[in-house]
This record gives sequence, structure tokens and C-alpha cells, in this order.
Amino acid sequence: MARSILIDCDPGLDDALALLLAHGDPNLNLVGVTTVGGNVGLETTTRNALQLREYLGFDKVPVAAGAAEPLTRQVRDAAHVHGAGGLGDVVLPEAVLEAHDDHAVDFIIDTLRAAPGSIHLVATGPLTNIALALEREPAIARWVASFTIMGGSYTRGNATVAAEFNIWADPEAARIVFDADWRVTMIGLDLTLQAQANAAVISRLKELGKLADHLIVPLATFYFNPNDEDWDGQAVHDVCAVAYVARPDLFTVRPARVDVETNGEFTTGMTVVDFDPPIANANVATHLDVPGFWAYVENVYARVAREHS
Ligand code: RIB
Ligand code: CA
Repeated sequence: MARSILIDCDPGLDDALALLLAHGDPNLNLVGVTTVGGNVGLETTTRNALQLREYLGFDKVPVAAGAAEPLTRQVRDAAHVHGAGGLGDVVLPEAVLEAHDDHAVDFIIDTLRAAPGSIHLVATGPLTNIALALEREPAIARWVASFTIMGGSYTRGNATVAAEFNIWADPEAARIVFDADWRVTMIGLDLTLQAQANAAVISRLKELGKLADHLIVPLATFYFNPNDEDWDGQAVHDVCAVAYVARPDLFTVRPARVDVETNGEFTTGMTVVDFDPPIANANVATHLDVPGFWAYVENVYARVAREHS
């Protein structure tokens, strides 16, 4: 029985690779995509989601646009990482189909209400839409089959020394999300930096034909810095969050209490993780079966590549 999945994202190089995995895995049923401002502005993340939908062929999956800005703070993007267009130097055909009429927050609430206990919610961008949905309808915390984020870290950050980008971009939203009445599965940098699309992976992905040449490899290498000998490859952060829903057996997770710093002069956006909590609010991913992960991902991508040959 396929697992239904709703992805809130900010495409984004790795968000695009995550959508490709969700679309290509026959054990996942992508029921919706919602977009948020994050890596680049909302208009661009939504445009990218719409173009990916038609290019990859999941035309019947609704795409609903959400929050353009964080709950209270100024917009802070990652265009320096993902490129001004959000997909590096990948250029896809303009989308013909338009976004869903509903705001992402309403779409998330209505979709979960209609299928309580059936849909795995995944967030791979700033948590603004999820926080707004929780504030409007706290019951979504009960309606989800599970809730997984790419975000946070229990060691170092990437947006700052202390904070990972998705949390740092909207710390107030992240605090609302971790304080809600559910168990968040946190796929943070400690896990995702184990999922490097390194030279060996890239050489295998290059065998996947036109889809690889036009999309997968450019996405997976755009900010790969081969001149930096310390740089083994590009971490496909968001792919890990979708992979967790499909193949949790590839991950080790530990119960923890996660609190989000929203006031620290140097630590705002930090996820403070207690692995010995009185009461856990999260399962935090610590270890990835790296060979198993790439075998799974490459097998799904090869399946999609055959459809695009
Ligand atoms: O820190 C990595 C996260 O920030 C990923 O979701 C990437 O797409 C960016 O949004
Ligand atoms: Ca993202």
C-alpha cells in the first residue's frame, strides 16, 4: 500500500530532487505540493514547483502557494546557494497549468482533514506554512500519519555557526512547530551531510540518460565545489526527508526534546537538542545507511529516467 505524502517546500535544488523522489517512488503517493518563500522568493519557488510538476509529469498533483515571508522577521534567502532562479542553471519549460486556488495553509488543513491518519506531511523549507496551519487548526497535529522535516542540527549550523537555514529563516515558526502536540521527525544536518552526492554518486547518476543530463546532475552539482579538496560532494538535504517516509529502515533516530532559540544574539535559529529528555517532542535522525540510501534513490531516479528516455 503506497504511503500518501504532502510536501511543503522551497524549490530549491535539493527540494527539486526530493520532489523527483516522491514522484518516482511507486510506494509513495504524492497528494500535494505546497510552496513557501525560502531559498528564493515565493513567486520563484512556486514557479519552480509548477515547472517541475509538468516536466516530470505529476500534473494531477495540486500545487498551492503559501507564505512569502516569515511570521515576524525579514526575508532571508539562500539564492547565493541555489542561484537566483532557485534551480541553479537548470531551465525548465514554462508551466501551462496554474497553482491551486487555495492558499497553502488552507490546502494543508483541508487535505489532512479529509484523510485523517493517512497522509505523511513533510516540510523541506522554512516552517512558516506549517506554523500558520497549526495556529489555524491545531488538529492537524493529530490528523497527520507522520510529520518529518529537513531542518535543524544538534551540532553546527549552515546559515550561521549555530543555525540550519530552514530553522534560521523563520525561528518563530519552528518553535511553534516543535511545541505542537505531535512528534516531529527531525532530519537535520547531522544526518543530511552523510548524504553527499560525491564523485562516485555523480558518475552513476550520469548513466541515467537525458533526465540526468538535463536535471538530476545539474541540480546535484550546482554548488559542488570540486576545487575544494575538503568538499566531498553536495548534500542532498531534502531528499533525506522524503526518503525517511519511504524507507525509515535506512535511518537511525533517537527520541529527544528539541527547543528552538529565538532570542540569542549568536544562536537565534539554533535547535537545542536534549537526547535525555523528561518528555520527548521529536525523533532526531543520527545515522544513515549511506549505501542503502543511494541504492534506493538511484533506483527510483532510474525508474523515472526510463520514463523520460
Ligand atoms: O539547510 C538545508 C536546507 O535549506 C534545505 O532545505 C535547502 O533546500 C535549504 O532550504
Ligand atoms: Ca529546501
